[in-house]
Amino acid sequence: MSQAKGQTLTVSVHACADNVGEAAAERVAGLVRGNPTAVLGLATGSSPVPLYEALALTDVDLSAVAAFALDEYIGLPAGHPQSYATVVRSQIVELLGLSPGRVHVPDGEPADEVRAGSAYESEIRAAGGVDLQILGIGSNGHIGFNEPGSSFSSRTRVVALADRTRRDNARFFETLQAVPTHAMTQGLATIFEARHLLLIAHGPSKARAIQRALSGPVTEDFPASLLQRHPGVTVFLDEAAAALL
Ligand code: GLP
Repeated sequence: MSQAKGQTLTVSVHACADNVGEAAAERVAGLVRGNPTAVLGLATGSSPVPLYEALALTDVDLSAVAAFALDEYIGLPAGHPQSYATVVRSQIVELLGLSPGRVHVPDGEPADEVRAGSAYESEIRAAGGVDLQILGIGSNGHIGFNEPGSSFSSRTRVVALADRTRRDNARFFETLQAVPTHAMTQGLATIFEARHLLLIAHGPSKARAIQRALSGPVTEDFPASLLQRHPGVTVFLDEAAAALL
């Protein structure tokens, strides 16, 4: 492992995705050991899976933790295997022994989108804000589902998914047409308010996105570049994802 401390972020590079997961899990476990009622921000997608698997192997008790998912597809029926509510429940809550009543996912079938977005913001605020937000990164630089062009001041809202994101995520669905066109996502300002951000990426397909996020211009055209302005960011990478740094 090699490590470099910058002014605002720490980059931690490991040999493989499993090592990335173990190191990131130790970071989360350390937080929860010190604060058993910590508030976590949860990301779905493949990047954080090794973290969740490694965290499940630690002795840390996560039952008093509160958690807020980053995003949810719009329009998938309740219980759809690819809805993030289902993924969070089956791949994170059950695996980690979180208390289901303390785990929140944005509403994917809101009667009133604006009201649902601000209700989610209120729930995060009422919980005291997010202590540690786990993040993956899309190949186009999205975080949550904040696609290129999203305002840095954006809040939880419904967004249209970029064609590239729908193509990237088609692997989870039977056809490209079955991938939802919209999602409810925490905004960039919402994410930025978390006290610590933990970004995870592995594999060569993320190398260019990581390079642009960490060393490219800070621009709404590449949402993950906003991380350069956050005072507490740790980036866990494997060597392939770090190759262009
Ligand atoms: C998805 C999610 C993001 C995730 C990203 C990367 O679309 N909305 O939260 O970070 O894409 O996914 P993966 O980790 O599978 O590459």
